[in-house]
Amino acid sequence: MSLTVELALSERAAGRSIALRLAEVIAAKPAAVIGVATGSSPEPIYAALADLVRDGLDASQVTWFALDEYLGLPAAHPQSYRSVLERALIRPLGLDPASLHVPAGHPATADADAEAYERLIGEAQVDVQILGIGHNGHIGFNEPGTPFASTTHRAVLTSTTRKANARYFDSLDLVPRECLTQGIATIMRAGTLELIASGAEKAPAVARALRGPVSEDCPASVVNLHGSVRVTVDADAASLLSSIAS
Ligand code: GLP
Repeated sequence: MSLTVELALSERAAGRSIALRLAEVIAAKPAAVIGVATGSSPEPIYAALADLVRDGLDASQVTWFALDEYLGLPAAHPQSYRSVLERALIRPLGLDPASLHVPAGHPATADADAEAYERLIGEAQVDVQILGIGHNGHIGFNEPGTPFASTTHRAVLTSTTRKANARYFDSLDLVPRECLTQGIATIMRAGTLELIASGAEKAPAVARALRGPVSEDCPASVVNLHGSVRVTVDADAASLLSSIAS
């Protein structure tokens, strides 16, 4: 059982540190399977990975699995998570878009798509899963109250999450109301979890997740039940964790 909290000097340094660990995983296992998150937190990881690829890292055999996708946005919509990850990860690293799996975003077939995605991830076995954390402690789009036993499923976004994500859309009304997300049990099957958080606004969620109690009210608190977790935070995100991070 290991949960390590790493205090990084900046958001950029946090991203670089995780990217270096991913590079080690890829060097040891070129066809590694890596779970990727969206949101602004993981962006420094992808930027640092792109630098490492420019310096010679070969990530061409890696398979990538996204955590979640909005329901109802066409795949080509600039804010669909497929588009976001193609922009942030696939293109900067010069990878084949077919190496990235993202849940489908069709409301009409969501339940069947969820089952298919769960099966695909189960067959692939994720080596490392990158996680951000929502203000309310969500991971992926698993909002408070989601059962720890959940697998990939259709879910309704809370108004907190829709408001937080409204910055990417022209208005709150345009933020989708539903999504398909890996479940908490799906995420927990990954070999290692790498959670990244930065900024003071994430401090309460980080503290709740790491200090406990471990509860479905704070989905990210489940990481305490995983055998291999690394939490990389900047000083602001760690500010309510003093006794853990010191
Ligand atoms: C979205 C994603 C989550 C992410 C969260 C936090 O809701 N589905 O995977 O962790 O946003 O995003 P940010 O890092 O931008 O605060």
